[in-house]
Amino acid sequence: MHMHRLEKLWMFIGGGTLLFFLIVLGIGAFIQGAQPPSCLTVIDPQRVEAHDPFKEENLGLQEVEGGDLDYVVNVVASAFNYDFGKDEEGNVVRKIRIPAGSKVMFQGTTKDVVHGFQVAGTNANMMLEPGYINQVEVTLDNPGVYTIVCNEYCGTGHQFMTAQVEVYE
Ligand code: CUA
Repeated sequence: MHMHRLEKLWMFIGGGTLLFFLIVLGIGAFIQGAQPPSCLTVIDPQRVEAHDPFKEENLGLQEVEGGDLDYVVNVVASAFNYDFGKDEEGNVVRKIRIPAGSKVMFQGTTKDVVHGFQVAGTNANMMLEPGYINQVEVTLDNPGVYTIVCNEYCGTGHQFMTAQVEVYE
């Protein structure tokens, strides 16, 4: 097959550019071990409960006394569930209820693979990576029921991985 000289030149430039960016990516991710800036706290994914916020009794909605925040919500993700602990009656919490106007920090980790944690319709959106604790702060002003979705593909049950946040007046 005959190829035009310019065609060859452009293929070379295209291939070269791709190679260049793969090398840059490789140096950043594998040699320097770059991580998203928010993932600064490390944790053993096999023993997340050894970390205070992820002990059974500290999961879910926690009121914060003093300081800037009103609440912290601790969550442990695993395929295909968000664990917010249990309520006073011992029922598994599927919905977090928060008064409108609260400043909330969602703090989470994962026991197995990468999961997403997005409170759809708000600015709360983070990635949960095994071995790291991630946090996101939002002020929830608008009452309503918000769906928490996993936006990282994590396996066969990925689309069933949801929970809810209810913001009430
Ligand atoms: Cu968890 Cu997708």
